[in-house]
Amino acid sequence: MNQDVLRVGLVGTGGVCAGVHYPGLRLIPGVEIAGICEPDETLRQERQAEWGIEAVFDRLDALLDAVALDAVCIAVPNVYHYELIVQALDAGCHVLCEKPLGMDFAQTQEIYARGKASGRRHMTAFTYRFVPAMNYIRHLVQTGALGAIRHARFQRLQDWGERAIGWRQYKRYAGSGELGDMGIHRLDFAEDLLGPIEAVCSAAKQLVPRDQTREGQPCPPQDVEDWIAWIAEFKSGTTGVFEMGKLSKGHGPQGDHDLAEFNGEDASVVYRLHAPHEVLFAPRGEPYQSQPVPAEFLKRPNAPRDPSVGDPVQTFRYDQAWEFVSAIREGRDCVPSFYHGMRAQAVADSILQAAAERRWVDIPDCPVSERR
Ligand SMILES: NC(=O)c1ccc[n+]([C@@H]2O[C@H](COP(=O)([O-])OP(=O)(O)OC[C@H]3O[C@@H](n4cnc5c(N)ncnc54)[C@H](O)[C@@H]3O)[C@@H](O)[C@H]2O)c1
Repeated sequence: MNQDVLRVGLVGTGGVCAGVHYPGLRLIPGVEIAGICEPDETLRQERQAEWGIEAVFDRLDALLDAVALDAVCIAVPNVYHYELIVQALDAGCHVLCEKPLGMDFAQTQEIYARGKASGRRHMTAFTYRFVPAMNYIRHLVQTGALGAIRHARFQRLQDWGERAIGWRQYKRYAGSGELGDMGIHRLDFAEDLLGPIEAVCSAAKQLVPRDQTREGQPCPPQDVEDWIAWIAEFKSGTTGVFEMGKLSKGHGPQGDHDLAEFNGEDASVVYRLHAPHEVLFAPRGEPYQSQPVPAEFLKRPNAPRDPSVGDPVQTFRYDQAWEFVSAIREGRDCVPSFYHGMRAQAVADSILQAAAERRWVDIPDCPVSERR
């Protein structure tokens, strides 16, 4: 395994970079945060001071010219993913890019093709694959502990209030609303556990205009959905029911919830984000009981974090950086890669089409991945 210092650049240093990518990369021995690119001058100066990074730029091309980077981590509004990925790959960098990978299926196909042709490692930040409960459920599904899965339910219910939520509420920056923000993660982990989705029917709604900023100033109204639901038929025969909303209060301790239920022939299991170190488990005919996630699933193998340190609802996210760096060092594909970003977008576009046309839509074919 190559343990040379890996020089990583951070592109976009807003919420998810500061909360997930920066702390995740900082934990890994042999990783140097060698530069940042952030167009917002105030934020750029704050990050420079806070993180003690010398090489700071407002554009990625300037960063790439000035610093010999091995890899970049792109965490910017969705509309900019494509152009920044292309620049980074052309400069010979490995790329970790946030979700949704692109603005639509056609763009993600182009991104995947470029990632594959580059010979570099490429990864889509489908963070929820790394929840300890999800690691354990993957094991239960793959070892047949639940029997064939007949039905699954996925909910991401949150209360964001009615004020504007920035670039996320505009199609030209985000591509879609709740679907690309929250739904696409659930599509990814559903397909990870249950295999490909074949067809979907759906409904989407914009519930409020969001035409006032958080400070109460007028702003252009949103033009994306803030609630969306769909039924998915999986190739395996499983049926999945999904619901996501930004104005749908959840049952968790913070007034939200993220839930996935898998009902198998032999047993059922439930993941809840607010309790990432446990699952609810019930053999057929018995009620649910809480079970701790076994120690071996509390983090990815060899990840440099102690699962007992910090808030477990946040710290599992650092394992994503570990997967990216490990794949680079081991010369293997990242999981999830750009393939999975493209695959989830194929389903997402079909969900939007099904809602618009009020009918079932078959998922278009994707090129076959080398590795799931
Ligand atoms: N994986 C997850 O769990 C997760 C969570 C939150 C956000 N996200 C995704 O991460 C991305 C960023 O979301 P966020 O919440 O951090 O947004 P944010 O608005 O907090 O931060 C985005 C940052 O990107 C900067 N930026 C804009 N254009 C840029 C450019 N061309 N080059 C470099 N920087 C640029 C902005 O100035 C801003 O600081 C989005 O794609 C979002 O969908 C993923």
